[in-house]
Amino acid sequence: MKVAVLASGRGSNLQSLINEWQDDSLPVEFVGVGSDNVKAQALIIAENAEIMTRAFPKESYQNRQAQEIDVLNWLEELGVELLILAGYMRVLSREFIQRADYPIINIHPSLLPSFPGLNAQKQAIEYGVKVSGCTVHFVDEGMDSGPIILQQPVPVFAEDDEHTLAERILKVEHQIYPEAVRLIKAGKVKREGRKVIIHTDS
Ligand code: GAR
Repeated sequence: MKVAVLASGRGSNLQSLINEWQDDSLPVEFVGVGSDNVKAQALIIAENAEIMTRAFPKESYQNRQAQEIDVLNWLEELGVELLILAGYMRVLSREFIQRADYPIINIHPSLLPSFPGLNAQKQAIEYGVKVSGCTVHFVDEGMDSGPIILQQPVPVFAEDDEHTLAERILKVEHQIYPEAVRLIKAGKVKREGRKVIIHTDS
């Protein structure tokens, strides 16, 4: 399965996927890592793993549509079968999602549908929840609203701030994102409308 990753920043989720791939526990082929940020650490992580990289900086385009067309053309050239968003901080347009004929997945640092959008961990702290977590979901045309593949809770303690909570959630992200990709690659993930059924026993 040919997979590409789009990432805007630090790239720790990308790194966790690459680690499992290099340990032979994620049997996919990383064909490219793209970013809207030329300075993204994710691009360096990909280069170190000898994965092809491409930057699509927004300053180089007249508008979002032009940038997305370049990204889509690149993904098509690569023959991508699964697109993984790993801290990609741009919302994909309806046109992008409609043209992509491969599944697109995302990881979000909250238990969706709570706290979509930016600063999910800060939203959780300010709301005062006792449990948060992370969600891997298919991307649809809304904001963090697509069908949910996997979720994992983490506790929120009274002394937490957004940074300590983000750190606790990130550790779990690094476990469930590779697991979700493994399940998809193994054909164990089936979408039935809004619901995603995971077939774990075959
Ligand atoms: C992760 O916590 C990811 O869940 C979040 O950005 C961080 C990226 O970290 N994504 C979103 O908030 C998407 N709405 P990373 O670059 O180290 O993987």
